[in-house]
Amino acid sequence: MSLIFTSVLIIFVYITTRTIYRLYFHPLSKFPGPKLAAVSYLPEVYYDVLKGGMYIWEIERMHDKYGTIVRINPREIHIKDPAFYDEIYTSGKRVRHKDPAFTVALLTPGAMASTNDHEQHRLRRALLNNFFSKRSVMDLEETIRGKVNMLRKRFVGACQEKVVLNIPSVFAALTADVITHYSHGKSLGYLDVPDFKNDMMEALDSLFRIFHINRFLPMLAVMLSRPPFWIIEVLGLPEGLFGEMIDARLRTRKRAADALNKKAKTTGRPETIFDALTAESVPKKERTLSRLVDEASVIFGAGTETTARALSVAAFYLARDKDLRQKLFDELTQVMPSPASQPKWAELERLPFLTGVIQEALRLSYGLSSRLARIAPTEALFYKSFVIPPGTPVSQSVYFVHHDPSIFPHPERFDPERWIRATEEGVNLRKYMVSFGKGSRQCLGMNLAYAEMYLTLAMFARNFDLELVDTKEENIKLGRDKGLPYPVKGRFSVRVRITEMFQT
Ligand code: HEM
Repeated sequence: MSLIFTSVLIIFVYITTRTIYRLYFHPLSKFPGPKLAAVSYLPEVYYDVLKGGMYIWEIERMHDKYGTIVRINPREIHIKDPAFYDEIYTSGKRVRHKDPAFTVALLTPGAMASTNDHEQHRLRRALLNNFFSKRSVMDLEETIRGKVNMLRKRFVGACQEKVVLNIPSVFAALTADVITHYSHGKSLGYLDVPDFKNDMMEALDSLFRIFHINRFLPMLAVMLSRPPFWIIEVLGLPEGLFGEMIDARLRTRKRAADALNKKAKTTGRPETIFDALTAESVPKKERTLSRLVDEASVIFGAGTETTARALSVAAFYLARDKDLRQKLFDELTQVMPSPASQPKWAELERLPFLTGVIQEALRLSYGLSSRLARIAPTEALFYKSFVIPPGTPVSQSVYFVHHDPSIFPHPERFDPERWIRATEEGVNLRKYMVSFGKGSRQCLGMNLAYAEMYLTLAMFARNFDLELVDTKEENIKLGRDKGLPYPVKGRFSVRVRITEMFQT
């Protein structure tokens, strides 16, 4: 009895002391915000873990009540002020670590995107920077175009057979085939799969469904999703979500092992991403199988899901609005006199309406909805009268920037012309387009994503007419932040039927 009593007493004293410290003596104690969030993670666990990705809306309520800067948990500050975005997500000589409390949830500790330390990240990113420069992506343009033309054939078939397409899987087949081609020289052939089923996308969905559980109980997720391989050999794959994740990892592991076993090239420019990651010039400790599997998993996921979702958002609004389709079609005929025309990416980039459609699709698909906090380890950040101490995780969710009505009036509206008006008025709206993040950790694949979006949307809108099937705006709107944006109910989905193929 006395042991139980002593234990309870110790816990009580510990929690009381910690609560007093967090409220009155912690470096963030003077920052505005609710007391419960300042002393514990209970509100965050309740809204994100138990209610499923709803803390983002609590944060919005906190800003309504306390102002633009809020202490949202014992150690993190959230700022809702687009003018401060570039200070948090900066580059150059200013050091920004990632927050381990978030990267841990990706379950890929060896990947560049999960590398918390600024300097180590810089070295890892340098291995791949060249692959994603605009020049390199232009060199890849013919490969992308080949895949876009394969997709066009699939749309022709879908039109003839009048099948209903789940458009995110369709676009994910294209983006997955492009990124796997670039990664190891050979597409995985998702564009040939009859119903566009994509096992890797299922695995990604499984990961993000448990994103918040991973944040708070990372060891449990690691144990369940990455068991030793001999256990799988003996027991086989478990059913359900963890089975999908383990299966995807095993297949990525096989490809990574093949890349490592391939005789390393000693001369010449690496042709694939795997070649670059396994080159002999890369330090040996960076060439381990587990790091390669982690990097390949992130590159696959990042290179597939986000671009496919942005394309699907564009498809949704085009399908819903005939005027929008007509305007885009009319503009495209300038560079695509016939449906089979193959304009260059550079030509398409000069089309203002298509560009507006792409920017709006990016704005309303958000990239990652997660807070993506950054830590300035040695620099204090100054916001209004507040001095944010070095070492503090500071974040600003993309959603709040993209829905700021002073920058994007009627932010919920898909309005491609806002980008044209902004150019005419000399306003640099792109400064507030943060789907790709900003600074030293900005999306590595941004140029590739743009090339895929321009080439795909041009082909799609110039060739086909379409209608929505059982899809409402609620099916694509951000309702829950699970790391990736999810609607309030179910999965992000856009179902369409291709109703016509334009002949002229
Ligand atoms: C519309 C498409 C895309 C969007 C909105 C997007 C968004 C983002 C964002 C917001 C980040 C930063 C994440 C963070 O701060 O933790 C990121 C990182 C990254 N993205 Fe993308 N992405 C897209 C397409 C792509 C593509 C096509 C690739 C191709 C491989 C890619 C590869 C990566 C990689 C490797 C990183 C990690 C970069 C680093 O840590 O330095 N992304 N992306």
